[in-house]
Amino acid sequence: MMRDMKRFFYFLLLILVCFAIFFLFIGNSKEETIEAPLGLPPVPYPKDNPYSKAKAELGKKLYFDPCISSNKQISCATCHAVSHAYKDPKPISEGILGRKGTRHAPTVINAAYNKLQFWDGRAKTLEEQAKGPIANLNEMTLSRDSKISYEECQKRVRENPEYPQMFIEVFGNDACSIDDIVKAIATFERTVLSGNSPYDRYKEGDKTAMTEEQIAGYQLFKRVGCNNCHFEPLFTDGRFLNIGIGMDAEHPDLGRYEITKNEKDYGAFKVPTLRETAKSAPYMHDGSHKTLEEVIDYYDQGGIPNKNLHPLMKPLHLSEQDKKALIAFLEALNGEGWQDLELK
Ligand code: HEC
Ligand code: HEC
Repeated sequence: MMRDMKRFFYFLLLILVCFAIFFLFIGNSKEETIEAPLGLPPVPYPKDNPYSKAKAELGKKLYFDPCISSNKQISCATCHAVSHAYKDPKPISEGILGRKGTRHAPTVINAAYNKLQFWDGRAKTLEEQAKGPIANLNEMTLSRDSKISYEECQKRVRENPEYPQMFIEVFGNDACSIDDIVKAIATFERTVLSGNSPYDRYKEGDKTAMTEEQIAGYQLFKRVGCNNCHFEPLFTDGRFLNIGIGMDAEHPDLGRYEITKNEKDYGAFKVPTLRETAKSAPYMHDGSHKTLEEVIDYYDQGGIPNKNLHPLMKPLHLSEQDKKALIAFLEALNGEGWQDLELK
């Protein structure tokens, strides 16, 4: 009798251990993922920088922290402000000590989906991109040597009372290396999304989600070929194309050509997303268009002629009503996912 009880006890213990191992395994294998809002594809991220909530929280803190700049005055949000749909209200951004670059800051919203970063695609990933401003004399550093810029940035982060512990939790060490800093920032950026707009709900089957004027604008958007470049559902196809912006200048910015030296890239810039665009004037790589009305008039006239102007850039002969409808449609691309980011 006693032996039976003992056996039964061991049997019970065995089952318990099996359960424990099973749950531990399941618990660990459940990868944390970013939930994309309605209308967006799954959010991609590189194999060597998987998403975790703790990493995104750390990245969020770094993104809004001016301590990553030499004089502790400029943060990523200085030029990509939440209140301006992660863009800059200034046509040309001003960085450290008021220094100016040459281009307008694009939005961080949905940058997770970009195949290449920057107007000219010179960075492959968000990680690589984030290293740019930290070592850029017009943006966040006072040092001409990028190695020194990174070392000083690491030091400032290490000196903060909260960061070292957060880095231990996320990366297993408190070195606060530049590579880990940009991994965290990029992870946060991948959570800055816009979907679930009236357009997305309309496409999902709610035919009342867009107004009649917006639906007319959507038909027109497709009829005049906007969607050949601003490809749905992200409203960019990631290509670099010449629509003539700034090409009448004496020494125009040649965009992608400066990187590839390929004639087909002459004066070509990345097709920007149109999601949240109605909230983030001014427009274009040089910030030269102040309003959406100006943008639409520009397309209506067929752009600025030059040797590489895209063949779709032709006078459109739009009526006033057409122009209004196109703008109404662009407003239907304002959605959710970035306004009050609570990382889940
Ligand atoms: C002084 C203003 C300024 C600061 C500070 C700044 N940026 Fe930018 N950002 C820009 C400008 C201007 C561009 C476009 C430059 C180009 O394409 O040549 C840009 C481009 C980008 C892009 C590319 C988006 C796209 O569609 O290709 C991302 C992402 C980005 N910045 C994120 C960041 C992050 C993260 C930080 C902080 C580490 C940061 N920026 C700091 C002005 C700034
Ligand atoms: C040939 C491809 C092409 C076509 C067609 C096209 N676009 Fe664009 N669009 C671009 C490119 C490239 C840019 C950025 C150009 C630059 O900054 O030099 C741009 C910029 C914009 C911007 C400014 C966005 C920002 O964040 O600065 C808006 C708005 C816009 N396009 C709307 C439209 C509309 C509406 C149509 C149809 C009438 C249209 N586009 C047709 C390629 C295209």
